[in-house]
Amino acid sequence: MIDIELSQSVNSLVSQFKLIRQQSLNLCSGLSEADMQAQSMSDASPLKWHLAHTTWAFESFLLKPLDKSYKQYNADYDYLFNSYYNGIGKQYPRPMRGLLTRPSFDEIINYRQYVDNAMCVWLDNLTTDQLTANKNQIEYLIQLCFNHEQQHQELILTDLKHLFSFNPQSPSLSTKHPFKDQLTTLSNNEAAMEQSVSFSAGLYFIGQNEAPSQAGIGFCFDNETPAHQYYLESFKLDTQLVSNADYVAFIEDGGYSKSEFWLSEAWQLIQSENRQMPLYWRKIQHQFYEHSLLGLRKLPLAHPVSHISYFEANAYANWKQKRLPTEQEWEVAAITQPEQFRGLYNQLWQWTSSSYSAYPGFKPTQGVVSEYNGKFMLNQYVLRGGSIATPQHHIRATYRNFFAPSAQWQYSGIRLAESI
Ligand SMILES: [Fe+2]
Repeated sequence: MIDIELSQSVNSLVSQFKLIRQQSLNLCSGLSEADMQAQSMSDASPLKWHLAHTTWAFESFLLKPLDKSYKQYNADYDYLFNSYYNGIGKQYPRPMRGLLTRPSFDEIINYRQYVDNAMCVWLDNLTTDQLTANKNQIEYLIQLCFNHEQQHQELILTDLKHLFSFNPQSPSLSTKHPFKDQLTTLSNNEAAMEQSVSFSAGLYFIGQNEAPSQAGIGFCFDNETPAHQYYLESFKLDTQLVSNADYVAFIEDGGYSKSEFWLSEAWQLIQSENRQMPLYWRKIQHQFYEHSLLGLRKLPLAHPVSHISYFEANAYANWKQKRLPTEQEWEVAAITQPEQFRGLYNQLWQWTSSSYSAYPGFKPTQGVVSEYNGKFMLNQYVLRGGSIATPQHHIRATYRNFFAPSAQWQYSGIRLAESI
């Protein structure tokens, strides 16, 4: 299982650290070095690079600045495995990560072990005073690096799925792979479709007020803060995600050939790339199939439709004469009536109509990790919830995921809303 029991059952930071680090390796089980070397597109990274980059983050955000006894493993790695932190230095070009055949996979495992050993010693020797000094900044940075590794665990799965989609044999995960069980938990929609829950107009609180450990509420990223009031008009939110069968109806009604449903940029894209269906669907002898990590399979019509771009989600909503929820509507529903909704967190990320931007009063975390979230607040849309690929203790109602509106390779789906 991808789920990791964190803070409740594991009380030491060392134990949490070891569990999270091991999980990244578990997700690569049964894969060849070639599987972990290739890069399918510039948005995706080789699995080998993910394993090295998350290691580099522990080294760069914790060990180098905070452990005076730490000796860097290899200074060249600052260039190879820095993703986008200009405050640290230049970065190897992202679209070319697949060309880094050296360091070898074995060398990256050595790097991981070296940093893991240093991290365990450092964490073990941290005093409560050190942890809580400077408004708990060190504890925040530790949790940030834990959560960062978990974000990359999700990317390991989505990037692998994208890579495998180019292989006409549609490879499957090995039978012992820890994600294989999780994949079968995508649930069927219930027969009673199109139910929704109504919410009345009013002022609601959105977001979280403090950085994590200060408030004792568990971790959150800086982009979820500060809590603030937000006025919502009355609205309805569907209890279920849009299914594959629903989306087939959209396609069969000519959804991809009617410009009136599509944003201008979206229409240009589907025209230029001749898109007719979601990313991983295949039409073979008049039947829809989908590429999955279980191999190519007949499209499960009752499952929620997945790997949908914002462009597609928006077009589908227009066709249904509904709309996507705002991120505030989604959060209010998830906090006040979570039991009413199917698949809030453990199925697919859900696109919202909200552009990813700063909350009123937002202040980025200080230091080099100020680049973690804030600088991406442009030309992206917020997704809420979580997916089957998301580590279970990594999700919460206030979590703000974000991707470009054309992105399809994440486990992203559609939940519809209406104004009332
Ligand atoms: Fe990263």
